[in-house]
Amino acid sequence: MESELPNRIRVKLFKRHEDGLGFLIKPRTQKPFVAVSALVAGGLAEQSGLVHIGDTVLRVNEIDISERSYDDAVELLKALPVDAPVALILRGPDGYSTHLETTFRENGVPRTIRVTRKVVNNDSIVSRIRRTFSRASSASPNRNEGRSLSPCRNRSRRLEDKRTEGCFVDNQCCICDIDQNFPIVPNCNGTSYKNQRYQVKDAESQTKSNSPTIMSKNNSTMNHCDHSPTIVVTRPASQTDSDVTDADVKLRGRLSNTDRPTTVVTPGGHIDQHDNKKIEIHQNTEKITVVVKENGDLSKKHKGNMSTGKENGVIENNKLLLNSVMDNKSTLITNGEHSEDRAKQRRDSFSNINLYSPTSQRRRSSMAAVSPKKYVKLRNYADEKQVFTDTLHTKISQVVPCTNSKCLGSIMNHPPSRPVGEPRPQEELLTQAREFIDEYYTSIKRLNTEAYQKRWQEVESSIEKRGTYELTTNELTYGAKTAWRNEARCIGRIQWNKLQVFDARHITTARGMFEAICNHIKYGNNKGNIRSAITIFPARTDGKHDFRVWNSQLIRYAGYKMADGSVIGDPASVEFTEICQKMGWKGKNGMFDVLPLILQANGLDPELFEIPQDLVMEVNLKHPKFPWFADMGLKWYGLPAVSCLLFDCGGLEFTAAPFNGWYMGTEIGARDFCDAQRYNMLEVIATKMGLDTRKSSSLWKDRALVEMNISVLHSFQSQGVTITDHHAASESFMKFMENEQRNRGGCPADWVWVVPPMSGSITPVFHQEMLRYKIKPSYEPMEDPWKSYVWKKDRDKTKSLDRPKRKFGFKELARAVKFSAKLMNKALARRVKCTILYATETGKSERFANTLCEIFKHGFDAKVLSMDAYDFIDLEHEALVLFVSSTFGNGDPPENGESFAKNLHDLKSPKNAKNGESVSMSYFRMSTASDTDSPIENKEKEDEDDNLNAETGPLSNLRYSVFGLGSRAYPNFCAFAHFVDNMLNALGGERINKMGEGDELCGQEESFKLWAQDTFKMACETFCVGDANAIQEATGALSSTDFSWSPGKFRLTPEDNDKEVDITGSLTKLHGRQVQSCKLISIEQLQSKESSRETMLVRLDTMGAEDLNYAPGDHIAIFPANSTKLVDGVLSRLHNAPPPDQLIKLEVLQERTTPLGTTKSWCHFERIPVCTMRTAFANFLDITTPPSQAFLHLLATQSSRDVDRIKLENLANDIHAYEDWKAEAQPNLVEILEEFPSVKVNPSLLMTQMPLLQQRFYSISSSPQAYPGEIHATVAVVRFQTMRGVGPEHEGVCSTWLSRLQVGDNVPCLVRTAPQFHLPEDATLPIIMIGPGTGIAPFRSFWQQRKIDRDMLPEPTHGEKKGWGESFLYFGCRQNDIDHIYKSELTQAETDKSLTRVYTALSREPGVPKVYVQDVLKQNGKEVFEQILRRGGHVYVCGDVQMANDVSTTLCKIIQEFGKLSAEDAKFVMLKLREANRFHEDIFGVGIKSEATARDQAKRAWKYINAASKPTSGKEVVTPIPAAGICCLFPFFKTRTSVHPVENPDPP
Ligand SMILES: Cc1cc2nc3c(=O)[nH]c(=O)nc-3n(C[C@H](O)[C@H](O)[C@H](O)COP(=O)(O)OP(=O)(O)OC[C@H]3O[C@@H](n4cnc5c(N)ncnc54)[C@H](O)[C@@H]3O)c2cc1C
Ligand SMILES: Cc1cc2nc3c(=O)[nH]c(=O)nc-3n(C[C@H](O)[C@H](O)[C@H](O)COP(=O)(O)O)c2cc1C
Repeated sequence: MESELPNRIRVKLFKRHEDGLGFLIKPRTQKPFVAVSALVAGGLAEQSGLVHIGDTVLRVNEIDISERSYDDAVELLKALPVDAPVALILRGPDGYSTHLETTFRENGVPRTIRVTRKVVNNDSIVSRIRRTFSRASSASPNRNEGRSLSPCRNRSRRLEDKRTEGCFVDNQCCICDIDQNFPIVPNCNGTSYKNQRYQVKDAESQTKSNSPTIMSKNNSTMNHCDHSPTIVVTRPASQTDSDVTDADVKLRGRLSNTDRPTTVVTPGGHIDQHDNKKIEIHQNTEKITVVVKENGDLSKKHKGNMSTGKENGVIENNKLLLNSVMDNKSTLITNGEHSEDRAKQRRDSFSNINLYSPTSQRRRSSMAAVSPKKYVKLRNYADEKQVFTDTLHTKISQVVPCTNSKCLGSIMNHPPSRPVGEPRPQEELLTQAREFIDEYYTSIKRLNTEAYQKRWQEVESSIEKRGTYELTTNELTYGAKTAWRNEARCIGRIQWNKLQVFDARHITTARGMFEAICNHIKYGNNKGNIRSAITIFPARTDGKHDFRVWNSQLIRYAGYKMADGSVIGDPASVEFTEICQKMGWKGKNGMFDVLPLILQANGLDPELFEIPQDLVMEVNLKHPKFPWFADMGLKWYGLPAVSCLLFDCGGLEFTAAPFNGWYMGTEIGARDFCDAQRYNMLEVIATKMGLDTRKSSSLWKDRALVEMNISVLHSFQSQGVTITDHHAASESFMKFMENEQRNRGGCPADWVWVVPPMSGSITPVFHQEMLRYKIKPSYEPMEDPWKSYVWKKDRDKTKSLDRPKRKFGFKELARAVKFSAKLMNKALARRVKCTILYATETGKSERFANTLCEIFKHGFDAKVLSMDAYDFIDLEHEALVLFVSSTFGNGDPPENGESFAKNLHDLKSPKNAKNGESVSMSYFRMSTASDTDSPIENKEKEDEDDNLNAETGPLSNLRYSVFGLGSRAYPNFCAFAHFVDNMLNALGGERINKMGEGDELCGQEESFKLWAQDTFKMACETFCVGDANAIQEATGALSSTDFSWSPGKFRLTPEDNDKEVDITGSLTKLHGRQVQSCKLISIEQLQSKESSRETMLVRLDTMGAEDLNYAPGDHIAIFPANSTKLVDGVLSRLHNAPPPDQLIKLEVLQERTTPLGTTKSWCHFERIPVCTMRTAFANFLDITTPPSQAFLHLLATQSSRDVDRIKLENLANDIHAYEDWKAEAQPNLVEILEEFPSVKVNPSLLMTQMPLLQQRFYSISSSPQAYPGEIHATVAVVRFQTMRGVGPEHEGVCSTWLSRLQVGDNVPCLVRTAPQFHLPEDATLPIIMIGPGTGIAPFRSFWQQRKIDRDMLPEPTHGEKKGWGESFLYFGCRQNDIDHIYKSELTQAETDKSLTRVYTALSREPGVPKVYVQDVLKQNGKEVFEQILRRGGHVYVCGDVQMANDVSTTLCKIIQEFGKLSAEDAKFVMLKLREANRFHEDIFGVGIKSEATARDQAKRAWKYINAASKPTSGKEVVTPIPAAGICCLFPFFKTRTSVHPVENPDPP
């Protein structure tokens, strides 16, 4: 958005369904006829802050309406499509000036603000003061070239600066509006910043007189902001006038109001040379320090930001600022001095900037200067509308070497600032480290956090103690990418975020370097689909132990100088080729001999290595039209990998950091082959083309050049090797510039380098002004190492290496060549990190994630983390992340996935995050792949403009795949995993494998295995790791991880029996959550004895545990114990077991590699704490859930009879047999051991392989205020018969355990917050609670809370509304007399008005038709509609998912009927209710009936699929068929089989 004319702004809004563009208009009597009359509260116009009342509308989507009648314009506005962006040109109110400014926060996030000021010409005191000051500055010659610069354009750059505690300070051009009526621009506290002013003080005079040199007109306002920036100019006490340097005088002269010429200073930390003096500026977050340096030596050193103010000519500025370099006659302008008549000078000096454009270069004198403004406008001469405003250059870290009189823009390399090999001085390191750490933490939005402080302290103390420090992997990754981003000479930077960083800082030897480089090449090549990568070796320490790659590129051709002076091969390599030969390399004197690598580790003598031939990917050149082209035998390598630049990051210097991108064709076609000093092919080609080479005007060179380049592009493309042409590259660079402008306010660019070497002016970059400056991190040139290297053996003689003598023996060379692929893969395996994140509610996802980790360890540096233990910030820097997650509630994330989900959501929609909007859980649900037409998805589409695509999205470096666990008994199958998958993709992540889904009802484990195998293969392919062996090994791991038990691997050792087993403590350790002990107060039966069911009110004493504080709506998680009968059953079947009540320790035999060799020793296997066998089976292990197929397979190995073994193996291998068996018998461990009597079960096998016993959740049924220190639960006791009612009786673990507890018994538990199920904050709103059966549980806490609130609190008010909101309970049970739980409590609650009305639905009342809660809701439809939609009510549903869905459908119908809406609109309203967090669900699980139905259907479908097609090892994942009636079958067939879409094979 950019104003094109004064008082005009271009604003882009979105036309929304509800409130259109978000403003109202009214007619005007004169042109333009449309004016903004009001803003819709909360509408987009208001939110944007860019539209003001009184604006007139000039253009709408490029249509000029300024001349049109009001009615016409209204018609046009009305006709704009909904849900589409609209571009408006607005004119600010008359008498004001209006423009937009894009500002940047500390964290670099851009923000556009509108600045509207009254146009007043008052001659204020301040402006007079300013003019007084401006007299100090001599005018610079007018070099204005007619640029019109709006005087207000640079006025109020608004910065949000945490350090100013909420004040906006304009540290760019703070004084510009000093004589204006200040714009009403709210600061982040909502107050105006108009009174914040900078003070300029002469420290010396200040110490004497204690008064500032300049004061604002109003001291009180000036002091208004404690943090108003201050410039302090100090002079060392010792400094006499004769000591004062020129520049110093100039500084002081300016400040003391004398008119002297000055050369000073570019903003940022850099040095500007003037005569023989240097002024060095160090700018950090706190201040700028300027040190005047004479004859190249700093007269005083400074340390970090702790300037003493005693330095030679030091300017301190504790909030920063300081502008400008003028020419010889100009004077330093600080923000304290500027008047309107200076604006022209500023424009003039602006034109001094080194702008690299063809036109500007010619026009401008190439004087070294930096804008006195904090921005520079960069024009595009091909597109007048394309204007960039660079502010980034204010962060420059190093001046470009140009001077006031010379532009050195085309000089290739400049002399280094330090002698070769000399390490960076410590204070410089400290400053740069600070800047980098600040920048990094700003980028991850953690500046000034505790983590940041800690990190900085760590860095600082390391530098102080060791003279250096280490970057973390993330910092290194960020630094390497940013250095690329900053590289002014590179045209291909749009890819900067896609750089794969290989951290090779652990490497110590040349051989290690060689291996790493080979891996790098292999990764980069990627079979032609080239990927950018950098390998970073250890940083420079003392300068004597540098790591260097002596080659300028990893792959390059040799150049052999012949006796006659001619060169065979690449002339650019002659010098290096000679060095290789001197080191023993025997070239073949060919045109295209790949040079060996010369690698130097740790300052030792370099070593020479041949690159294995299969790693060198070469392209033979041919031409699409000229067959003779191929006969020339030209070829080129595919991987351009620069290895001679130093990676300068955070003050650390990485002297060996080879990196690669891919070629732009002209680099080969124009430069390598056609430069006269290179392969020089032009004439040869021209002759073959039959061109007239005698006169240049035939343009034979140009024509040959074009054909050469066509050949390069054609050959690369036809041989499948990535290459870009210069037009595409230029276009992408323009896009990059645009992105950079938007994202960080500028883009350093070197026109000389960026414009391609051929056809310059027909590429867009040619016409683009560019600003060349250097910011860190960066890649810097280094001197050729052989020029100064002293060979070890020559060191005594201190000879330099003019002629290296060292030769490699044959043996060493042979060894180098023999570098095997296997070794390479192993080395790489250690280097590619793979993070596996899981979110789980009942532990399965964690188990799967661990299995996945075992597989990935065969190729990667894999580790597993729970999503909530993961630092989300790291995601941006990850290369490979795998996700395994279940779905809970009704499409929600498991609890430990919630924060991750929120972070993902915020990353995708930062606007919501910024506004503090909560993420409705329904969001996840609606983000499933199948929901492409949902309004949510549409909303996502709206955000396409956000640039979150694979190229530039924040996660564009990430490769990922997701596996979802779920159950098709739930309508939102694997919804959370889909959400993660979709979000990552939308954020730019690259799926390496399609999302896998595992249905708990059918073949979950099988699906996982297939997905895991495929994912591993694809990850190996992606990262070029592993070979067939590794893949086989890993696949083996998949089948062996689950039963990696073997008899000799584990053992049980007896422990001292005096020790007590702390169950609660052990559970805490086991589950990684703080488990507390409650005591049972009482159990009360809630149903009559006549009822076939049992429901109880369980009351627990929290024993004062703070962790057990809760709010109504939260859950309690109870850790039960298995029934004594079952435990005894298991114990009696164990083979070779210690006595059941003996304390035992489970140990594992672990292998360790020590310097003395490999040793094996027994270590505690922490999965199970030290306890008795009885405790282990009672409290820690799940012995009731039917075991997995993997477990059955293991049991089969322990069977001594064939019949058992074969049957077990059949179950383990045949998914259908297994699913049938599991569904019918639901066998627990005891039953299995009975069914297979010959299985001699080893206790350690069970203890290591059985899943852990999980907690059960219960909706808390009490209010903490009604029952302080207590938690109540309403628990239905689970008892059922297997085999569809004819098998043995089974008991629910937790509910029956609770039912058997005695008063005072311990109940290990924890509280799980359910913020989505809390009472509304506005107590005046009506609430509708729907909870049949135990679904009533949480509502008991609600009505208790309401009673307390009514008794204790004043009547609530909310706006117009007053009084307690009504509350309606819809309860359901079978029979009124025997099943109506809490009947009397409910009657009482109605009486005391904590419930307005209770509706009871009876489903088995004798003689009465069945009624369910949804039926009653329907009957009350009109009221329900009123309560929810007219009166803003909240709906709460609790119970099983089937009931919840029926209720949801009923509500939808009610909304449709009484809202007179279409079915679709009614659904949309429901969705909105969910989004607004007004429709709450608390899902217990799936009802037994629907589970059985779903299971049956899934099983049949599964069989059908498998009959139709056996799983393949292709990309697609086997996805079991869903339960018909719940999901559509069709999409699942599509995924992996060639079977035609079919109807449900066996419809219910
Ligand atoms: C968020 C949340 C809140 C909950 N709140 C409550 C609550 O307030 N009150 C409450 O009572 N429960 C509540 N539950 C359910 C509760 O967590 C337990 O699932 C329930 O108590 C059963 O646990 P259990 O250990 O007794 O049974 P388990 O040992 O876990 O056995 C249950 C399993 O047995 C099988 N089964 C059960 N009945 C039959 C049958 N008739 N035929 C065949 N198989 C059968 C099913 O496979 C079922 O999954 C809630 C669940 C969640 C997730
Ligand atoms: C209360 C509850 C709600 C569930 N909701 C869903 C759901 O909405 N969608 C789904 O696909 N699976 C749902 N499931 C099934 C689980 O995702 C499935 O059991 C999974 O295997 C659990 O994996 P975990 O142990 O990693 O949590 C639910 C399970 C429970 C107990």
